[in-house]
Amino acid sequence: MSDVPRPLIAAEHLTKLYTAGDQQLRALDDLSLAIQEGEFTAIMGASGSGKSTLMNILGALDRPSSGEYWLDGEAVSKLNDTRLSELRNRKIGFCFQSFNLLPRLDAVENVEVPLVYAKVPSKERTKRAIEALQRVGLGERLHHKPTQLSGGQQQRVAIARALVTKPRLLLADEPTGALDSETTRQILALFDELHAGGLTILLVTHEADVAARAHRMVLVRDGKIVADGPPPVVLGTRPHDPNEVRS
Ligand SMILES: Nc1ncnc2c1ncn2[C@@H]1O[C@H](COP(=O)(O)OP(=O)(O)OP(=O)(O)O)[C@@H](O)[C@H]1O
Ligand SMILES: [Mg+2]
Repeated sequence: MSDVPRPLIAAEHLTKLYTAGDQQLRALDDLSLAIQEGEFTAIMGASGSGKSTLMNILGALDRPSSGEYWLDGEAVSKLNDTRLSELRNRKIGFCFQSFNLLPRLDAVENVEVPLVYAKVPSKERTKRAIEALQRVGLGERLHHKPTQLSGGQQQRVAIARALVTKPRLLLADEPTGALDSETTRQILALFDELHAGGLTILLVTHEADVAARAHRMVLVRDGKIVADGPPPVVLGTRPHDPNEVRS
């Protein structure tokens, strides 16, 4: 093992071009970013600045038009689609603003989905799904369907699903965008706890008080990083307070 810390995420000169009709749009423009293991980073920027495009590439859900991306030392751009989905399943958890839960499945079954892809045997799947739901405070709602859960509870199911494969990296694209402020506070307290447990978190948000929970803030404009440093302190928020109680 080398003594030099290797970034968990190393993206170099990422460009993403979209063609719509006869117009070409540069959603990412020569963007480079390195994230060390254990960092909690917020990505901010105006609507259309390229945040989701970046997250989709870092999450190996999409490929850049050009540029290189290494995840945990693996050259992602060189992997074929099968290897790519294996890598995604093994190392990355996702959660999105819209939860993306399957409506016919209950909480446990939703959380089991990534384990089905990972070919984990049924009994073990259920055990791990229940543990993940307990970890996000939903041990009492195991057999509720998404429509029988509040927005915050649905997002916690989505977070449990993201964590059930024990990923190194959590990618969250506006995970609190659809939630009220109290539920947002609970989800953020959960993120702090996960971060304290060693998880690397990359979080897209429009809200400065949400970004203030992170240790690093990256500002994207027109597909480029225009600022990168500690998030500005927002009055009335307590950044990553370890004593905060999750209700
Ligand atoms: N599949 C696509 N085809 C064509 N253009 C796209 C596609 N996806 C995104 N874009 C364009 O790329 C740019 C960046 O989009 P992206 O979704 O990354 O923005 P964003 O920063 O996540 O915005 P928001 O805050 O509104 O979610 C936008 O101008 C968008 O219209
Ligand atoms: Mg977006």
